[in-house]
Amino acid sequence: MATPVTVDWIALRAEASSAAARAYAPYSHLRVGAAGLMENGRVVTACNVENASYGLTLCAECGLVSALHASGGARLVAVSVVAGDGQPLAPCGRCRQLLFEAGGGGLLVDGGDGADPVALATLLPGAFGPTDLGARREAP
Ligand code: THU
Repeated sequence: MATPVTVDWIALRAEASSAAARAYAPYSHLRVGAAGLMENGRVVTACNVENASYGLTLCAECGLVSALHASGGARLVAVSVVAGDGQPLAPCGRCRQLLFEAGGGGLLVDGGDGADPVALATLLPGAFGPTDLGARREAP
């Protein structure tokens, strides 16, 4: 069994905050940064990237999952998503699904100062995931 990784939430949130400072958000003016701790102990970060064609905006978590795979693809065990003020921001619905694929329901999400981290299963109950796909697909 893998050794459980200890999460330094203050440090993880600081990394997310640094990433938020690099956001490209000229339209919404909402900077978002995400930092994820992988089970191998490494941290990946990303920020939101907007586009003049608004619907093409990439959320910070989207970049995070991309960075995760580009750097080796380990499972995510903890994530902090913050706005430009450095405080946790609720991941949007699509990003909860992206995070579920990368870390499962046990992935811990930063709850902020004085609050416990929240398991992703609480933020995305009854999630559809890889197991459902395998179990329910029909033979070609
Ligand atoms: N945003 C994220 O980066 N992640 C979320 O989970 C919520 C929203 C970004 C997208 C857009 O650039 C801005 O916040 C306003 O929606």
